[in-house]
Parts: sequence; structure tokens; C-alpha cells
Amino acid sequence: MLSTDFCGFALTSPFLLASGPATRDADHIARGLEAGWAGAVTKTISTEPSSGLRLSPRFSAVGGGLVNLELLSDRGLESWLKDIESVKRSFPDRMLIASIAAPAYSLGEWRSMAGQCGAAGADALELNLSCPHGLGGRDMGIAAGRSPEIAREVTAAVCEAADVPVLVKLGPGAGDVAAVAAAVERSGAAGVSAVNTVPALGKVDVENLWIEPSPGGLTSPGGLSGAPLKPVALRVVAEVRRATSLEVSGIGGITTWSDACEFILLGARTVQVCTGVMFKGFGLIEDLRSGLTDYMIRNRFAGVRAMEGRLLDMVADYEDLEAGRCVPRIRADLCLKDDLCYVSCRDAGGGAITLAPDRSPVVDVEKCLGCSLCMQVCPSPGCITMEAAGALRRKERGRHGPRH
Ligand SMILES: Cc1cc2nc3c(=O)[nH]c(=O)nc-3n(C[C@H](O)[C@H](O)[C@H](O)COP(=O)(O)O)c2cc1C
Repeated sequence: MLSTDFCGFALTSPFLLASGPATRDADHIARGLEAGWAGAVTKTISTEPSSGLRLSPRFSAVGGGLVNLELLSDRGLESWLKDIESVKRSFPDRMLIASIAAPAYSLGEWRSMAGQCGAAGADALELNLSCPHGLGGRDMGIAAGRSPEIAREVTAAVCEAADVPVLVKLGPGAGDVAAVAAAVERSGAAGVSAVNTVPALGKVDVENLWIEPSPGGLTSPGGLSGAPLKPVALRVVAEVRRATSLEVSGIGGITTWSDACEFILLGARTVQVCTGVMFKGFGLIEDLRSGLTDYMIRNRFAGVRAMEGRLLDMVADYEDLEAGRCVPRIRADLCLKDDLCYVSCRDAGGGAITLAPDRSPVVDVEKCLGCSLCMQVCPSPGCITMEAAGALRRKERGRHGPRH
């Protein structure tokens, strides 16, 4: 039921291991594939092995996510070519994607790495045009993914040299994502992987006057991954799908089957997981697979491809959003009488909510701004809903609000 395809490769499920610590060598990748992942993207291979893995400590768990100071792989191309061959020999039915990045702006190096990884057996290439640190000064990493021109040139060079499909990995701050995605599509890319981490500082310890992670006592912006990244990643996935016909691999904050589902409904063909596996191990795949299967049965989706992009037509340009009037409906039986809706409406809304003697909230529809802040702050699920009125576009599609 979960089987699908990506860039011409038949997959047992949409779940891939993302480039990172859990795909740092053949041994890790093999253990992940044995656990049931449908494929893996190698830690980014470069002709100049990175020194970032020598920084210690290099992680900070913050805000439900993770900031890391890692760079690309610390292992050379030669050793990676052997790993690619050995993984493919043992797992011919799983997709192995080689993540590559030239250390400087050299199209020759991009071509050479692409050709060699393809010849070693990689099923596809992922061009890391989004590493958040270290390479920007050399027009690579995040700087390349921000420039449609550089992204186009690199992609065209790699597509020329490679016999396998080429994916371009973008970061959340890729500037005009639609323009970059359209540029790489014109250059022959088969797809986009979105997103890489976003530059961020780690945890600030105000009592001990310290910032994590600080190898040798100094810190620097690292890459933020995990839960805080998800809404941003979903936006990038939708933007790429709206602007191009590229296949998309969604990445960012996926730890549950429903996170994965969100990406697929917004247009991702596959999803990749990095921080989720770092926190929970390769066994996470079991929950992802069974949860998505149950969801598909419950919602009568015949296959993963039938889910792909089902919510994409709800995403529009801001200018196309239509004014409408919504007012909250509050279910007294679910109200916890915690005053949160009253306080937020009083101090940041229209002051439309008053409290009855028993502290039940009462809405003055005339004063209500229709903003939904009361619903957002209410801790009781289903207690406050917004009653939609006049959302023309939805009515045209025969929908009147979220399906419950
Ligand atoms: C410690 C760490 C190392 C990473 N290394 C790479 C890398 O070498 N190449 C790459 O393209 N992305 C790398 N990433 C980014 C992930 O592949 C992924 O795009 C990002 O973390 C968002 O997904 P997540 O929220 O599931 O972690 C790394 C992420 C982390 C946390």
C-alpha cells in the first residue's frame, strides 16, 4: 500500500533517511535500510573532506529542534565510492542517493563527482546547494541555492555529466524559491529536496552566561533542524510544486506519520528524516509506516500518489485571498473556563469576549474582529471553532471548511 516511485525508482514507501549523521557511512546506511527505510541520502560528499565533524560539542537541542555545527562529510570521495558500491550490492531494491557538494565554485569538480558517484551505483544525486555554514564565502552552500544563476549553472553541469536523475537540495532561506526551482528545472533537474537547515544560534544559558554549542568556548550560527523547521519547509515544498513540475522530497521536522502526511498532501512525493532519527533511532520507521498505512485506509486513499498534493490548491498568492467574515462559536460543554480567550481578545483582539458570572465566555459578534486568536489560544480541542461565512473560493470548490 505504501509503495511509490521517485525519479523513476520504485520505492517500498515514501520514507527516506536524510543526509546527516545517520547516513555517515555504509554501516549506518545499511542498518537504516535493514530497519525498513526505503532509501537513504548519503552525508554530503565533497572532494575536500570537512573539518566540521571535529568540533566538539557541536549540537544544541533548543526550542524542540536541534542546532548543529556540522559541515559536510569528513570522509573522502574514494572511500564514499566504495560505500556506495557496497550498499547497492547489498540493497539493490533500495534507493541510494549520493549527496554531493563541490568545495568551491568549480563546475569541473561538480561534474567529476557526479560522474563518479553515478558510476559507483548511486540511483540519483542530490546537489547540496544549501549547507548553512562554511561555504557561503565561496559562492557554494547556501549562497548557491539563493542564486538562480549559480543554481542553474551547477545543475546544468551536473545533469550533463550524470546518467542518473539529479535533485537539488534547497534551504528555507533560498530567497525566491520559485525562481531557483524554475531555474534548476530548466537545467534538467528531476526534483528538489526541501529543506536543509536554517542558520541559527543554539540555546542561550542566561544563568551561566553561556551559549550552546561552544567548542573551545566560542559559538557561531549553526543549522536549525527538527520541529521548528516544519512550517517553513511545508511552505517551500508548496512553493516549488506551485512553480514547477519537479518531483519533491519534503524534509524538515518529520517525526510522526502525520508530519509526513502533511508534506505529501502539500505535494511531496517522498519525505526524508534526519533529526527524528537522531533522537529516536532507525526504529522510527515502524511508526511512520504503520501510522501512514492506517491513515490511508481510514481516508480511503488507494496509494501514496493519490494523496500527493491534495491540499495544494488551497495554497494561493496573498493577493488572491478573499475577505470574509468568520465569528467564533464556543461550545460551553468543552469550555475549561481558563479565561485565555477572554484575555487575548481583550488585549490583542477586538475586546469582543466577556465572561458570564460562571466564567463562561460570551462573544459580542458586532465587536468581533474575526481573527481567530481566541481559537488559537484555547487549550480545549474543538471548544472554539470559527464559523466561516462568505469564503467564496471554498464554496466554488464545494468545500465549506476543514473536514473533521
Ligand atoms: C547534524 C546534522 C547534519 C546534517 N548534515 C547534512 C549534510 O551533510 N548534508 C545535507 O544536505 N544536509 C545535512 N543535514 C540537514 C538534513 O538532511 C535535513 O535537511 C535537515 O536537518 C532538516 O530535516 P530534519 O528536521 O528531519 O532534521 C544535517 C542535519 C543535521 C541535524
